[in-house]
Amino acid sequence: MKDYLSVNDINSLPNWIDDAKKIKQNPLMDKALGANKTLGLFFFNNSLRTRLSTQKAAMNLGMNVMIMNFGNDGWDLEFEDGTIMDKGKAEHVKEAAQVLSQYCDIIGIRAFALLKNKERDEEELILKSFKKYASAPIINLESSLSHPLQALADIITITEQQQIKIPKIVLSWAPHPRALPHAVANSFVEIMHLYKANLLITHPPGYELDPRITKNTPIEYNQKQALEKADFVYVKNWSSYIDYGEVMNTDTNWMINLEKLGKAKFMHCLPVRRNVIVEDAVLDSSQSLVIEQANNRTYAAQLVLKYLLEAKAE
Ligand code: CP
Repeated sequence: MKDYLSVNDINSLPNWIDDAKKIKQNPLMDKALGANKTLGLFFFNNSLRTRLSTQKAAMNLGMNVMIMNFGNDGWDLEFEDGTIMDKGKAEHVKEAAQVLSQYCDIIGIRAFALLKNKERDEEELILKSFKKYASAPIINLESSLSHPLQALADIITITEQQQIKIPKIVLSWAPHPRALPHAVANSFVEIMHLYKANLLITHPPGYELDPRITKNTPIEYNQKQALEKADFVYVKNWSSYIDYGEVMNTDTNWMINLEKLGKAKFMHCLPVRRNVIVEDAVLDSSQSLVIEQANNRTYAAQLVLKYLLEAKAE
């Protein structure tokens, strides 16, 4: 593997899950692998879990870590080729990516969708520019379209918790006052397509995700019916994909409560707004897996770093 840009870079999900579980049992087993290697984590958006779990993963591998928030600390980058840079942008990604590749053995990039222009977001200009101009391997720390480290942690969590061979897993939309991107939902659907499970999506009409991602995944617009006999309920808000970036529905009836959850396990990538997305009683119950999902972010990131370091050593 040369980069980890999406879950499509996973060559064998069963092997990845097995290896992640070995790392979780003994996180320091590859402590020598990253000696004298440097991970650079570069953020165009805020983060708690991605930043710290990936840093922790790198430290478990003996790596050095450098972190920069481009929004606050770095020069404002230009990503378009051939522009006359006589306005606010001080540095072109062509130079920046090559310079960072001199300092870092692996580079992580977080750059969310702006949700103003679908075509622009789907170009993934920031992630793809770093991929184009950097010589170091690139890890996607959440881009416009995908959050593959989160999806990997999620599938590890499901395999640890599942009681039956083919679980029913429901991805449910929930209300949120702000327009949120589709990346987490996209990558969750994509990784579920690599796994043996009955996946069902529920959301209000008009919130259909990109059909190129959902493919033939069934959609049930009645949330209560969708959640019946679910083993896992993964809850996430996303803004409309059809009316791109719009918040068209804030119906609080879509919030998850204990009654709707039934006996299912509750999953969310965090951060989560209490009593908006999900009621306190769910998050504070033993059915909630959110803290373990966040814990597994470390082992998902460590697995990806380990594979990239091994590939570089070959
Ligand atoms: N789930 C997740 O990516 O969390 P952060 O935005 O805090 O990194």
